[in-house]
Amino acid sequence: MITAKGRAKVNLCLRVIGKRADGYHEILSVMQSVDLFDTVSLDPLQEGEQDSFEILLSRAVAGPMPNPPDLTERALEAFRRHIAPLGPLAVKVAKNIPIGAGLGGGSADAAAALVAANEIAGAPATLAELAALGAEIGSDVPFAVLGGTLLATGRGEQLQDIASPSILWWVLGVPDFHLVTKDVFEKVVPPHEEAPSSCELTEPLGRGAVAGVGALLRNDLEASAFRLRPDLHRMKEAMLAAGSAGAVMSGSGSTIAGLCISKDHAEEVASSARLSFQRVHVVSSAPLGAEIVAD
Ligand code: C5P
Repeated sequence: MITAKGRAKVNLCLRVIGKRADGYHEILSVMQSVDLFDTVSLDPLQEGEQDSFEILLSRAVAGPMPNPPDLTERALEAFRRHIAPLGPLAVKVAKNIPIGAGLGGGSADAAAALVAANEIAGAPATLAELAALGAEIGSDVPFAVLGGTLLATGRGEQLQDIASPSILWWVLGVPDFHLVTKDVFEKVVPPHEEAPSSCELTEPLGRGAVAGVGALLRNDLEASAFRLRPDLHRMKEAMLAAGSAGAVMSGSGSTIAGLCISKDHAEEVASSARLSFQRVHVVSSAPLGAEIVAD
């Protein structure tokens, strides 16, 4: 049996540049992996058997069960079609990343499935090739394969390295409701100002200046998410009032991420913010997205 981890992400900055002819939005985003992960295990079955899927939800995951075919299944299909055949598999997904929360849990599962499938097949593809294949599955899957701290452009699938020398500490405040990415993007009002060409926080991020990063956290999807759920705005205020160095909605929501200057600071912020959310997680940034878990 081969098991891979797929990590959650936060968006430190998400700028919406405009709507494209294909229905997606052109974006600019700084994305960061955090140490909260799902695992995907693949166990070869006898020839002639059918794939089986089992999804285990940890207690941290409040939410609707993902409907098959979920992103894990699509990732395995894409791997078989484009990289290498795989025999029938028993697939087990253990979910810890909250669902429908803007933390990229579905993409993390797809990324972990690609990395695990590649290991089973004898590593025919590079990580960069798996990331490119991931773009077929979802806009955030390439990031979930590579991970770390990257600048994403296009619909989120084109990735570039950026400097981020420090470990960042986050409090993830997860509400008791979910937001659907498509619904949030549909409510975006295109910017009136000139299209942004960068995320300003890349400069303090490169210097490891956490307070400077905190002041420049920004997500253009907040306005439409707050229109769908006005209480989410109050939750962002609560994360700031809890003493974080800055707070921002992650992805298309519903998580509010509070940036902290140390682990101790994050524990303090989490204990104050706890009352405003269904669940809080204290997490650090991580240098990788998906990776094989040693036996
Ligand atoms: O790529 P993914 O399947 O994750 O996207 C889900 C939905 O979110 C898309 O169908 C689209 O409506 C919206 N979306 C968008 N612009 C992006 C990414 C997603 O409009 N850059």
